[in-house]
Amino acid sequence: MPASPFLDPCADIDRRGSDLPHWQQGATLCFVTWRLADSLPQAVLDELEEKKATWLAAHVPQPGAGAPSPLTTGSRGALAPELSVSPRYANERQSVPGTKSPPTLQETLRRLPPETSAEYYRLFTAKEEAALDASHGACLLCNPQYASHVEATLLHDDEIKYELIAFTVMPNHVHVLFSLRPGTSLDQTVQSWKSASAHAINRQAKRSGPLWQPGYWDRLVRNRKHFNNVRAYILDNPVRAHLPASEHLTRELRTVSDSGEIVSAGGEGAPVPMLACVPAGSRGTPAPLLAHAPMLEGVPAGSRGAPAPDASHASDRLFEAGMTAPTIPTPAFVVDAAALERNLGILAEVKRRTGCRILLALKAFSMYSVFPQMRRVLDGCCASSVHEARLGREAFGGEIHAFAAAFSDSEMRELVGLTDHITLNSFAQWRQFQRVLSETGAHITCGLRINPEHSEGHTELYDPCAPGSRLGILRAAFDGEPLGGLTGLHCHNLCEQGSEPFARTVATIEAKFSDLLPRLSWMNFGGGHHITRSDYNLDLLCDTLNGFRQRHPNINTIYLEPGEACALNAGTLVATVLDVVENGRPIAILDASCACHMPDVMEMPYRPRVFRDAYWGGEAVPGPLADCGAEPGEKPYTVRLAGASCLAGDIIGDWSFDTPLKPGDRVIFEDMAHYTMVKTNTFNGIRLPHIALRETDGTARLVRSFGYDDFKSRLS
Ligand SMILES: Cc1ncc(COP(=O)(O)O)c(C=O)c1O
Repeated sequence: MPASPFLDPCADIDRRGSDLPHWQQGATLCFVTWRLADSLPQAVLDELEEKKATWLAAHVPQPGAGAPSPLTTGSRGALAPELSVSPRYANERQSVPGTKSPPTLQETLRRLPPETSAEYYRLFTAKEEAALDASHGACLLCNPQYASHVEATLLHDDEIKYELIAFTVMPNHVHVLFSLRPGTSLDQTVQSWKSASAHAINRQAKRSGPLWQPGYWDRLVRNRKHFNNVRAYILDNPVRAHLPASEHLTRELRTVSDSGEIVSAGGEGAPVPMLACVPAGSRGTPAPLLAHAPMLEGVPAGSRGAPAPDASHASDRLFEAGMTAPTIPTPAFVVDAAALERNLGILAEVKRRTGCRILLALKAFSMYSVFPQMRRVLDGCCASSVHEARLGREAFGGEIHAFAAAFSDSEMRELVGLTDHITLNSFAQWRQFQRVLSETGAHITCGLRINPEHSEGHTELYDPCAPGSRLGILRAAFDGEPLGGLTGLHCHNLCEQGSEPFARTVATIEAKFSDLLPRLSWMNFGGGHHITRSDYNLDLLCDTLNGFRQRHPNINTIYLEPGEACALNAGTLVATVLDVVENGRPIAILDASCACHMPDVMEMPYRPRVFRDAYWGGEAVPGPLADCGAEPGEKPYTVRLAGASCLAGDIIGDWSFDTPLKPGDRVIFEDMAHYTMVKTNTFNGIRLPHIALRETDGTARLVRSFGYDDFKSRLS
């Protein structure tokens, strides 16, 4: 039976410190708060103290005629030490039988008629809480780098001297809930957190002088109810203070199980993640992903919780740093490995049910840091160029296929060493390269792309079968051409489509190419299959593929090469509001650009979904508490989101939100993993978005940052 983490009123209490004594009792959970030196000016505090003293003197019955109230016996004629300064914390100090401490403020208030103690709360406690959350002072901790110094010091001795339960680094104060390990002093622990973080922050901010207000406020957790309140207090603090995710750093690492054991916040008995983000919108309900969270892999031991690298000056560097979603610098693509895994699961099911082989279309998604994860399911990749083929060969492995509208001689020479399959777009190209390909002895299988002249798309830009298309060979062009040396056909005519258009396409191919199909050993049905979309008819896809296979037993390999479906809804683009200007409507200018970072929004065009979420932990989909952008006028505040480039049309769109946008707020665009990173440009010299990964255990890492060199190296 584990020792209870709650205060034992019968056990000894260690009281340290004379001015504001701090209580410690073994491993009892402890809630501490400290704040920046300028968070509440001393004058404000002094004034509050005076008012409180006067109010208490007037409302608290004196214990005996003429005897001074213990509430007014503190030094400097103020309140007793444990009642001074901040009733917000001191007023919950526990009274323990057998100790000689004067009655606590809380005890005293409890003895008052409810309406009187309610008045105290209204007059002082609520005001003081609001004052703290109103973010007085310079609010240095808004800077994610500084906040991460606090995080780093907290995590430094976690599992060594204490177990952290939860903490929040607010713009001007810090709350921590934790359990001390035997032999660890509360006082020394908090002082070391304060001094180490002050040192690091001062150094980075190039400032000197005291960072924190002297002292700290602490409470031992009395019971389960108290624990729940404290926990909710910490996790809800940013929401109460209406803080965007960028301005706080909130973590829940552990919780207390029903049996009183301290366990991972991901579930009883689960290993404790080193850095667990508060799951989006799930205060109180741990993210399922955390339930089986392994210890973070790939993060150097010393770097857990280490400050984010200063990416702002980074160029062409690869970062492998443990960090958390709110500290990811913006703009950034944040890919959610769990969402990717979900897509891979669906693709694995298609493979299992049909025996087809699935290739990743690199044109859609080339984030090679997640290729090892994708390679577990996918058979290889398809490339549209030598460079993609090389990336596939170097970073993905498996089968490498290549297709382009046309290849040059030199490209073909390179492709020969990189690919397993090459699909050509004309008989002329086949004739041009047939000899080269057969002479290499590289066992490259070759095929031709057909144009089934069967349009399913409505946007010409994305319809390979649109009239006049250069993509694929028309049926008529096959007449009289020898097919010797060719073993398969390739067809790609879909774009973001369901399995119904695919079934119709297959029927068309079977009708039009019936004489050729018996001579093939493979068939590639291209991409455009929206297989991982929630309303996709998977059964029809599988039936169509299985039916085709049964009717053409000579075709022993069927390929699909989806791009979008692999990374659908698997990542976001997070951006920060730089300014809000007015021209008939508020226009929020972001550090992300439509023209540079999400060109498809203008090209297709399409309207991305967008959300704001103080609890965002890097997930690809918004949590239940997110403020999702609605149609203009639907929510109280309509705003235009636009890029910072000179292009007048660098406009992402208009949305409405629950609250107005202000500089520093983060907005998160959904479904930004595919056809984004691969299409970005540096027009205006605008910085390319960082690339970050939210691991399946909820931790985040900045995978790649771009800088001046990336811009310059493309010019001369
Ligand atoms: C030949 C070919 N294969 C595969 C794809 C991938 O398509 P999607 O990302 O829509 O699945 C494309 C997209 O243009 C393509 O042209």
